[in-house]
Amino acid sequence: MTFSPFNEREDMLHTEESESTSEWSPATLHLVDEHERFRAKMAEWQKVLKDSDDEERRRILRDIAAFLDGEVELHARKEDEVYFPALEPYHATLLMYEAHDLIRNEVASFKEALAAWERGELPFGKVQASLERVFTLLHDHFGEEELVYFPAAERNWSEAEKAEVWEKMQAFLRDESETQDTQNQQGGAER
Ligand SMILES: [Fe+2]
Ligand SMILES: [Fe+2]
Repeated sequence: MTFSPFNEREDMLHTEESESTSEWSPATLHLVDEHERFRAKMAEWQKVLKDSDDEERRRILRDIAAFLDGEVELHARKEDEVYFPALEPYHATLLMYEAHDLIRNEVASFKEALAAWERGELPFGKVQASLERVFTLLHDHFGEEELVYFPAAERNWSEAEKAEVWEKMQAFLRDESETQDTQNQQGGAER
């Protein structure tokens, strides 16, 4: 066995790696970072749900429902309202809006199953199956965005467009947090 070809290959791998995600624009990196964070959370929840009793399960499942309605929904809206409209001139995005709606429907089914289980009307296995469907859809969806849609945006957007998308996304987040603050001050947090 010789050593030099192996080293050469390693160098090539490093080069390819540095050319991919490190040059993505801030808006894309922000969305990919969230995907990573969400994947880690889902993996952790799947692990702890296996060995927990009913009391712990109830607490964890409520946390998951709040996460899906909160962080995941806000992430989808950043894409629906800022990222995909900017990509639309270069790449059809209808399938991604449909995927978001499909995920929202499965989240609603999961929450219904959770409520029915808490009332003692449904076995835990049904809630778990419903949750698995949501997590699987999210995993597949994140993968598709990272493989097809984000690279399409990065290929087509000019530097000015990349800056504009990031600016709009930050403005969207500022508006959202102001809305949240107002709701909290009025004591009207509905979720
Ligand atoms: Fe998405
Ligand atoms: Fe996403």
